[in-house]
Amino acid sequence: MDMKIALGVTGGIAAYKAAEVTRMLQDLGVQVQVVMTRSAQEFVRPLTFASLTGRKVITGLFAPEGAESTPNVESAIEHIAVAQEIEALLVAPATADVIAKFAQGVADDFLTTLYLATKAPVVVAPAMNVNMWEHPATQENLRILRERGVRIVEPDSGYLACGMIGAGRLAANESIVNAVMETLEGARDLAGETVLVTAGPTREPIDPVRFIGNRSSGKMGYAIAEAAQRLGARVILISGPTALTPPGKVEFVGVETAEQMRSAVLARMDEATIIIKTAAVADYRPKQVVVQKIKRKGEMNLELEATMDILAEIAKKRAQQIMIGFAAETENVVENARGKLDRKSLDAIVVNDVSQPGIGFDSDRNKVTVLTRDEQIELAEAPKSTIARQILKFVATLKHKRASAVAN
Ligand code: CTP
Repeated sequence: MDMKIALGVTGGIAAYKAAEVTRMLQDLGVQVQVVMTRSAQEFVRPLTFASLTGRKVITGLFAPEGAESTPNVESAIEHIAVAQEIEALLVAPATADVIAKFAQGVADDFLTTLYLATKAPVVVAPAMNVNMWEHPATQENLRILRERGVRIVEPDSGYLACGMIGAGRLAANESIVNAVMETLEGARDLAGETVLVTAGPTREPIDPVRFIGNRSSGKMGYAIAEAAQRLGARVILISGPTALTPPGKVEFVGVETAEQMRSAVLARMDEATIIIKTAAVADYRPKQVVVQKIKRKGEMNLELEATMDILAEIAKKRAQQIMIGFAAETENVVENARGKLDRKSLDAIVVNDVSQPGIGFDSDRNKVTVLTRDEQIELAEAPKSTIARQILKFVATLKHKRASAVAN
């Protein structure tokens, strides 16, 4: 496996153990770029890690004092380069301080800046005094990180360097290495797949300046596209108008109307192995689009006609694709969604109750239930990026189940 990770070492007695973790990861074929905080260097010298990895250890955001006085551009943007090339960020040992900084988004050195800049999965192995570990502040910070999808390798209990007994001792090297390897393997769950995602609202023109739209922001769909790409898939994103920037390498197709979305989906669906339809497609459009701007005059009636149900249509045409629909409901949430699952012959439908404030439309958070013919999985309220990853993990399991059913 040719993979690269960054290992952040922070200041604690356990810092020396990071050397053994580095060696074990390298033995498994993982390239390790070590990043040390200032206090970590009080415990272990960078030279130890430089000798082990054969590469420069990163010790700060800027060129070291005494180095040439001209600004070091290469060094100043290095955190972005590292952030983009790594497939995971491991922090071992992680102090209460770095955990708090991660939780709050403080970026005052290379490691904390790297944490903010990377989209790679993060594994954190804490080590600290038992009282610091148990303190509500630390526990709250850990909760925030877990909710964001950070994997915490729980510390062991036992004699601590401070002489106390309790939880806080850095987990065994094997546990840390296993967590990283699982994360790296999980990180490739959708390798070889092409995921077609539809997102955002559609706009159905009334006249040259007006349209019928809806409240969809596209955030859920863009989060799915981004997460699918991170899991190793090729991604085609077909989106109605949104205020969002399409993630990095996705193949982006911008559309406006339901009909344009339908054509784009029909044109690209054969390339896809997984189709996820988060778009809030208009169900009705004006029967006639008026060529000139409609002038104000007394009462007016707008005659509407139904659009095509894209999902139902492609479900009939599909070959082997896994198809996932979304449903936004305001009442009889699960019941209505089950109806759509059957009617549209989907493998699963993700349903959210848009009547609840603070989640769903235009929010960064969501709370959804995933329904299949025989399962109902409630996902806890979380940021859309976390929900996206959980949905895709579920899709990957469906895919594996189907592949093994075909093989038998
Ligand atoms: N959908 C679609 N084409 C449409 C309408 C909806 O492909 N013309 C897809 C959406 O992308 C979504 C799913 O169908 O994945 C459910 O959308 P929703 O609007 O909740 O379902 P409708 O069938 O339109 O049901 P209703 O509006 O009556 O609740």
